[in-house]
Amino acid sequence: MKRRGILVTGTDTGIGKTHVAVRLVRALQFAGLKVAAMKPVASGAVRVGDAWLNDDALELQRAAALDIPYDWVNPSLFRMATSPHLAARVEGVAVDLDRLVDALDRLAALADCVVVEGVGGWRVPLNDHEDMADLARRFDLPVVLVVGLRLGCINHARLTSEAILDSGLVMGGWIANELFPRSQESQDMLYALEEIMGRPLLKMPFEPLQGGVVWTSNNHIDLVEILRLVAPSASI
Ligand SMILES: Nc1ncnc2c1ncn2[C@@H]1O[C@H](COP(=O)(O)OP(=O)(O)OP(=O)(O)O)[C@@H](O)[C@H]1O
Ligand SMILES: [Mg+2]
Repeated sequence: MKRRGILVTGTDTGIGKTHVAVRLVRALQFAGLKVAAMKPVASGAVRVGDAWLNDDALELQRAAALDIPYDWVNPSLFRMATSPHLAARVEGVAVDLDRLVDALDRLAALADCVVVEGVGGWRVPLNDHEDMADLARRFDLPVVLVVGLRLGCINHARLTSEAILDSGLVMGGWIANELFPRSQESQDMLYALEEIMGRPLLKMPFEPLQGGVVWTSNNHIDLVEILRLVAPSASI
């Protein structure tokens, strides 16, 4: 059966993939879908009781209403907060894509759709031979590119969207994420990106850390497109 879901990648590390993915999970649930979230590979762990866990995976696990064990959300975790293949080497292991595909299928069987957060950027190595793009091909989900609006993002967005298209996957669209309070510069970047890449699926406003999201009417209209991507047969 065709997997239903979305792979959230980004123009870089630290540009808002988790921020956006968590809000997509909540919004899709609000639209009535049973949503699972996944961070297949994570590097950087915090100690919680006896366990080592990753912040992104915890946030995603909490956002999803489905009660899913941590190991299912994040099957591959490394302690060191560095590129996963380097962190894996330190631990004397290697990321195994087959295991990650099995984990995705397990989640997909439980949910209407799975929101997957990628690691770092599109070509981050996962082991000595494979990178994030290879994992995306194995997952075979529509890809959504989060563009963090900051200097350099136009170049990163163009390179990444070209690479996604080259991979043969469905490029579902891009999301403009305002990493900082709105400024003339950030608006100019957004207009330039729109000219090059077309209209974004969503414009995610800058949200200072207070949790909770207000979906504006514009965002709601755009969510229809995201729903078509993640679960084409779902009704809203
Ligand atoms: N729209 C936004 N408004 C306010 N803060 C944001 C926004 N998007 C991201 N941030 C903040 O920017 C930081 C990086 O975001 P986030 O952790 O989502 O990036 P990421 O791409 O998932 O990073 P990583 O590559 O480590 O997974 C976080 O502190 C997050 O709260
Ligand atoms: Mg993240």
